Formats: sequence, C-alpha cells, structure tokens
Amino acid sequence: MDFDTVIHGGTIVTATEQYRGDLGISQGRISAVAERLPGGTRRIDAGGRLVMPGGIETHAHIAQESASGIMTADDYLSGSISAAFGGNSSFIPFAAQHRGQSIDDVIATYDARARPSVIDYSYHLIVSDPTEDVLTAGLPRAFARGITSLKVFTTYDLLNIGDVGMLDILGVARDHGALTMVHAENQAMIAWMNRELAARGKTAPKYHALSRPELAEEEAINRAITLAQLAGAPLFIVHVSTDGGARRVQRARAEGAPIFAETCPQYLELTRADLDRPGMEGAKYICSPPVRDEATQEALWRHVQTGTFDSVSSDHAPYRYDKTGKLMNGEDAPYPKIANGMPGVAARLPWLFSEGVIKGRLRPEEFVALSATNAARIFGVAKKGRIAPGMDADIAIWNPETVRRVTLGDQHDNMDYTPFEGLELTGVPEVVITRGEVIVEHGELHGAKGQGRFFARERTDLTGRTARPIKEVALMRADEAPR
Ligand code: URP
Ligand code: ZN
Ligand code: ZN
Ligand code: ZN
Repeated sequence: MDFDTVIHGGTIVTATEQYRGDLGISQGRISAVAERLPGGTRRIDAGGRLVMPGGIETHAHIAQESASGIMTADDYLSGSISAAFGGNSSFIPFAAQHRGQSIDDVIATYDARARPSVIDYSYHLIVSDPTEDVLTAGLPRAFARGITSLKVFTTYDLLNIGDVGMLDILGVARDHGALTMVHAENQAMIAWMNRELAARGKTAPKYHALSRPELAEEEAINRAITLAQLAGAPLFIVHVSTDGGARRVQRARAEGAPIFAETCPQYLELTRADLDRPGMEGAKYICSPPVRDEATQEALWRHVQTGTFDSVSSDHAPYRYDKTGKLMNGEDAPYPKIANGMPGVAARLPWLFSEGVIKGRLRPEEFVALSATNAARIFGVAKKGRIAPGMDADIAIWNPETVRRVTLGDQHDNMDYTPFEGLELTGVPEVVITRGEVIVEHGELHGAKGQGRFFARERTDLTGRTARPIKEVALMRADEAPR
C-alpha cells in the first residue's frame, strides 16, 4: 500500500522524545513512522524542520456572544483559519448557554455556526443556568454526544453561578466522567473594588487591572478546588494569572488531586503598564483576569516549567478596538463598560515556541506537551495530539530558524489589532495538516471552508489522580446502595 503523503527527513518531536524519521499518512491517519519510508503520492521534504503534533487550542471564543451580548469578531471560518496559521490542527471553542436556554438549543446553535470551520473542532459548553432540566437531561445528553467538558464562571453578573450551582455542576460532571472548567475570580471582591475605584473617579482602562486583584483569583481558585474536593470531581482552572492561584493548583496536584490548569501568553508577556497607554489604547489590553506585573510573570514561567500548568492556551476573545467591540460604549467608556478579552489564537504557539524553546526555557518535547498532548489527554481527544500509527494525521511542520515580527496581517483573523504587534519571534509553523490535508503551507491557505469536522470526545483521563475522600460524604453514602 502506498502512502497518500510522506513527510520525510524531519525531526519528529513528541511530548516525550525526538528522533529523525519519516512519517507516512494514509486516508487521513498516521499509518507509519519509520527511519525511512519510500513512496507517497505526495512527499513533503521536512529537512531541517520539526515535525510535531498540530496544536490543539482548547481556549478560544469563536462566534460567541459575551455575557453582555457582543459577538466576537471571529466566526468559525476566520477563527479556524487564524488558528491554522498559528500551527493548530484543531480547536475546542466554547458553546455558551444564555440564561433560560436549553443545552440542546445551545448545541444546535453552535453546530450551525461551526460548519464553515477549516480545522477539526469540538466544544466545551459554558453553563450559566444550571436548572434541573439542564442538570438531569441537557448535560447528560451533551456528554453522550462527546461534548465532555463544560465551563462555569465565578464572576461576571450574568454568568456567575454561585457555589451551589458549581457543586451541582461538579456532581453531574463527575457522574458522567466529564470535566468541569472554571474561570475563577471572586465576584464580590471585584464589585467592591469597582465601587471604590468609581468613588475616586478612576475609570480609565488602566484601572481595570486594579479592579481585579490577584487576591480575587487566589481566593476563587482556592474555593473552586475546595468545592471540587467536596464533590469528588476533577476540575480544570482556566487562564491562571497569579502565583498565588498557581501555588494552590500546585499543592492540590502534589496531593494527587485531579486538578488541571492552564495559563496564557498574555500573562507571561504583558503587564498592567500595557493598559496605561495614551487615550483609549489601553482598552486593547483589557481582559479578565487582567495582565499583572513582571514579578508575577517570572513566577508563572516557573510554574510553566515545573508542570503546574498542563497547557498554555490563547483565551482568544476577539473584540475589535472599534465601535463594534472595545469602544461600543463610546470613546470615553469607563472600564467596566469595555469588552473583556484579546485575540491570540494565531500568536499562541509561535510565541510559546520562541519565548519557550528558542529562549531555552522549555525543551521542544515540553512545547509539544503544552500545545497539544496534555490537552488531548485531559479533554478526552482520543485521536489527536500525538504522533503514532492510527492517530489522525494532525501535524505541524515548524521551521525553528525563521525570524519574524508579529503583524496584524499574519494573524489572519478579523481583528483590527494584535496585542503582540511588533514582537520579534523565532520559529514558524510552515505546514499545518489536519487529518492528512494540508491546510496552510508557506504562508498560504490551502484548506477549504467546511473541511473541518466535529470530533466527539471521551471521558477525561485521570490516570494516577484520585479525589481525596471526604469523611462526611463517605458516611452519608455508607448506608446507600452503590450508584
Ligand atoms: O477577558 C476575557 N478573557 N474574556 C473572554 C471571556 C473569558 O473570561 O474567558
Ligand atoms: Zn514546501
Ligand atoms: Zn475566562
Ligand atoms: Zn476565555
């Protein structure tokens, strides 16, 4: 049997090793990995390049309304193209429930929105209204369809589900082998800071960063982990931006608890000084949790290097700078009326490769783990994120020597700015392949609208991790039949 494609002469990098070899692709799957493979209808010469699993972006807001109803600038066409140019072969954006909406309706809505995707996709649900029907019928149906993760918020008035809501969600997810994700910031502490800042007339963009103290994240992460322990459920903490929060994650993991976490490039690259730009420019850097300072960046890098974080994700939340996005509420809107979020799905991996691998902070294997392999394991993506026979041929071929400055045009999104403009980065994903099809090659799009497919996911893999038994819960269950 001949191969459809052979990638030859590259250095294959996985999460655990690197070696020179050829990779054979047949019918969208990796069919052989060997020192030398002859043949191939198409041969791609990867000499001098790194052949890695295509990135899996697990935190992106695509064709999604914010809590206040603003639509992201990227839909599944532009969002997937931008992701592909950034070295991703697949992504898992959010399918967000509005209060009052059924889960079936949410999924139907996003199924329609996602159809134009150029790369493969799945969704994490966002649950803002955990009604009885959602908990007992909607979520179990979603899990059965392979949508095995969902996110909740402890902040934003229209999304915050409260501790009881969170416990309910954690319990249902636990019973079905699904994974709960949380945006953890203490809403009361933020509301209080907002009031204090408003009373002082401090409403310019830069005050956004002060309104959401590091302590608010630390408290909420601690609480979320504690609630997950009571429920006996695994938990994934999104966009950790503080040393205090990361230490709490680290401690839980050291105890063997099924706690997972990510951070994002913006927390390692930007600081609150970026919000203090002339006029409203600072609005471009408003995201939640906010970017912090150099001391926190250094601490977060150590957590990336020592394994506190399973992945580095973009939190691509593309609200344009113009009046369809950040300036929707006027040229002098106070920070609480400015959309939260910044783009980054195309910048995530080039940034991580350059700042991580090229600067000697990460081994290439660790880059692969943080960009694809860990996320695949945690989010139940059985056929992606690894290079091995039988896996989907989701591959990115990187030239580790190309030096580029970040430009808006290179992001290929629908945005009017990039927060990483002008940064000099080394390393470029030259060829990006999804299920054996070349999507991006040497700066050109080859993928077609609608070529991406939905992938169902399995239960999260908790190998080696166990929830700590809670005495009172054990006693409560002691006289019940097993369930
Ligand atoms: O500021 C951000 N990150 N906006 C997107 C929504 C969220 O909180 O993840
Ligand atoms: Zn070529
Ligand atoms: Zn968030
Ligand atoms: Zn987000």
